[in-house]
Amino acid sequence: MLSVINLTKKFGDFTAVDNLNFKVERGEIFGLLGENGAGKTTTLRMLATMLKPTSGTAVMGKYDINNEPEKVRETIGILFGGESGLYDRLTAAENISYFAELNDMDRKSIKERIDFLAKSFGMEEYLNKRASKLSKGMKQKVAFARAIVHNPDIMLFDEPTSGLDVGAIRNVHDFILDCKKQGKTVVFSSHSMSEVEKLCDKVGIIHKGKLKDTGSIDELKRKYENDSLEEIFMRLVGDMNEG
Ligand SMILES: Nc1ncnc2c1ncn2[C@@H]1O[C@H](COP(=O)(O)OP(=O)(O)O)[C@@H](O)[C@H]1O
Ligand SMILES: [Mg+2]
Repeated sequence: MLSVINLTKKFGDFTAVDNLNFKVERGEIFGLLGENGAGKTTTLRMLATMLKPTSGTAVMGKYDINNEPEKVRETIGILFGGESGLYDRLTAAENISYFAELNDMDRKSIKERIDFLAKSFGMEEYLNKRASKLSKGMKQKVAFARAIVHNPDIMLFDEPTSGLDVGAIRNVHDFILDCKKQGKTVVFSSHSMSEVEKLCDKVGIIHKGKLKDTGSIDELKRKYENDSLEEIFMRLVGDMNEG
């Protein structure tokens, strides 16, 4: 469903993402685990076609990020950062439908889709309220609905829980698991071991732009003969293994 092939990004002389290779199958959740500055956001920005790779590429569904970025954008849904990024002056429904229009959906399917999403997220009562009048939790649901309004096959989440409180974190986790249930392929980044253990089918440990290892959590635990993802992580990125 998604293949990353020798993906590299340089900013001047500095290599932020260094020759990444990994594959994610349909319906899998892949977690990119790394410290601050590891290259997670840069990687996800390239997969989302917001940033051009210096070299290498990725195939998202059927489409190559370098050759068919517009097609890639139709295939993916994005939820980046902790902020909802809604337009305060638009209503919940208008926020969602604006995004749907950007994705070339026609009016009829936009309306049907918003009705469906409003039901499934329980947003019917505030669909026509301005975003500025909504609670944090309501805004969060609108942001989820907006991210999947065009029913993308692949979802990209960049540190989706950073800066959120416990309840909001749970909502994000439920949303990610729900995307998987619907058969979507999910790539998300995190620096939280427990989050990655809870959600991921596969994890890639990234450090200084390089993918140190990748596999299911069980595979990694067996390979490193260690039951703690945190210890495995430290062993892979720690000072003893520098250079
Ligand atoms: N636009 C940019 N120009 C120069 N350096 C950048 C730019 N964006 C990111 N970097 C650098 O690339 C590295 C990886 O950043 P980033 O992908 O944001 O890491 P992460 O999301 O894992 O914290 C960092 O050292 C960061 O300072
Ligand atoms: Mg980041």
